[in-house]
Amino acid sequence: MNSDQTVHGACDLDPAGLPVHVAIIMDGNGRWAKKRLLNRVKGHEQGSETVRTIVRTSREIGIRYLTLYAFSTENWERPKSEVSALMTLLNRFLINERKEMQDNDIRLFAIGQLDRLPEPVITTLKETMKLTRDNKGMQLTLSLSYGSRSEIVDMVRAIAREACQGKISTELINENLVSSHLNTCNMPDPDLLIRTSGEMRISNFLLWQIAYSEIFITKTLWPDFSKEEYLQILKEYQSRDRRFGKIKT
Ligand code: FPP
Repeated sequence: MNSDQTVHGACDLDPAGLPVHVAIIMDGNGRWAKKRLLNRVKGHEQGSETVRTIVRTSREIGIRYLTLYAFSTENWERPKSEVSALMTLLNRFLINERKEMQDNDIRLFAIGQLDRLPEPVITTLKETMKLTRDNKGMQLTLSLSYGSRSEIVDMVRAIAREACQGKISTELINENLVSSHLNTCNMPDPDLLIRTSGEMRISNFLLWQIAYSEIFITKTLWPDFSKEEYLQILKEYQSRDRRFGKIKT
């Protein structure tokens, strides 16, 4: 939260107790559209609007890292028309939001198998990341063509290679070394993981990184997820007792 506490509805949040890193599994776009007898793509379009709202709110209240699960490795299996619509939406979002990112000191970052994305999206992504790379207010990370298991496989390969080349000894392999070989090496682990649409699963998202994250699952479908509900979850997060497996003495 800004020191002047101007964010509507956020006044009762303790700025010192905010999560540093919020990660979100955005789910329910398809069901949102189905309920309205609309094409699934309409759900993704409305979902993009929610992305805008949540990015803006996160920056306003002082979240330092926001990571969104925008497209999983498994999502490639969806009908071509839906994949193509999602890629178009993503490209449009990146272009349209550049000014807002620059004005609000937001750095764009991406994790996942980015080389699998269509060429125009890769170009837009690279340009946006380059343009915003010195921004320090908040890092917005989009997980694109992302799957945690394949990220872990890549990490194991990289560490094994370094060990074979004699660059590291196996005794030096520890949790920090593992973390430093993941796509998320430039950010702390998420403090808070939110999943919309009520499903009780992790869906191959940040498996290593969420070891001690507080998890909130809301039944709200992503396109209906609002600033007010987000603030309410943050408020509830602040009342949780995070012990990291220890006990209070
Ligand atoms: C899950 O809903 C959502 C996705 C697979 C894609 C998320 C994409 C967006 C929110 C919009 C575009 C993203 C950005 C960053 C601009 P679902 O389709 O699985 O919903 P369902 O489970 O109800 O079918």
